[in-house]
Amino acid sequence: MTDDVTYQDYLELDTLLSLQKPRTAGSAALRSTVLSEQFFIVAHQASELWLRQTIADLEAVIDVFTTTDDTSDAEWIVDLLHRSAGLVHVLHTQLIALDRLPLTDFTLFREVLGTASGAQSEQFHRLARLIGHSKQDGPLYESFAAWVARSGRTVADVARSGIEAGVYYRIIEALLELGNGYFRWQVGHVGLVTKIMGSHAGTGGTSGAEYLLGRCHLPFAELRELRGQAHVGLTVASS
Ligand code: HEM
Repeated sequence: MTDDVTYQDYLELDTLLSLQKPRTAGSAALRSTVLSEQFFIVAHQASELWLRQTIADLEAVIDVFTTTDDTSDAEWIVDLLHRSAGLVHVLHTQLIALDRLPLTDFTLFREVLGTASGAQSEQFHRLARLIGHSKQDGPLYESFAAWVARSGRTVADVARSGIEAGVYYRIIEALLELGNGYFRWQVGHVGLVTKIMGSHAGTGGTSGAEYLLGRCHLPFAELRELRGQAHVGLTVASS
């Protein structure tokens, strides 16, 4: 056992905790404004860390879908998808925390943001590409459908069979949990933005809330459609 590693060293806390640098600090700004800007920075930095983990987990899922033809890693995939859904929920709750960002402080420190904007988050765009949206599936769903096809089934078969399809079906459930959580996070972001900015334009140059609303998508459209078809022609007597 290595006994010379400390909590501080292992987590590189000196570096991590030196990275929150409110630009209003050292100016004539009130303490309240500096603290609010720090809160804003922490919420965004923490979100980027959780995005990092979510992307890594989903890339591992895609690797399994693309490199295996059996179900030996399928339970791990289910775990990773549930974990990703949990992490997207964490991202959502961090937004909710920002509901407590005082409006006046935000208006005061907003000018130091310049043109910096969440729209420039490379990790967000990477996650969005992996997950896909309502009109275009991403590699996560495409690799899943190809993996199912290599087993001699189709996603439609699995969706129709329900729990009888075992782990294949549990993966569909986990994908939808992730997709719905992702949608709730996006809608929550629009709610936060309208609460604190109304219809004001964003620092990234978009129209703000209106732009963001247009980008809220329910991913995994085919899965939703297939589940809708389960209602057609089914009665208790026929099932
Ligand atoms: C007070 C808090 C926040 C406000 C007022 C806000 C505001 C905005 C606005 C207006 C946009 C549109 C782009 C622009 O013109 O700037 C945007 C985009 C975005 N924001 Fe936020 N945001 C907040 C918190 C967060 C947090 C905590 C995150 C977490 C990472 C985040 C991530 C993003 C992302 C990823 C986009 C791009 C979304 C897309 O292109 O679909 N935002 N934000």
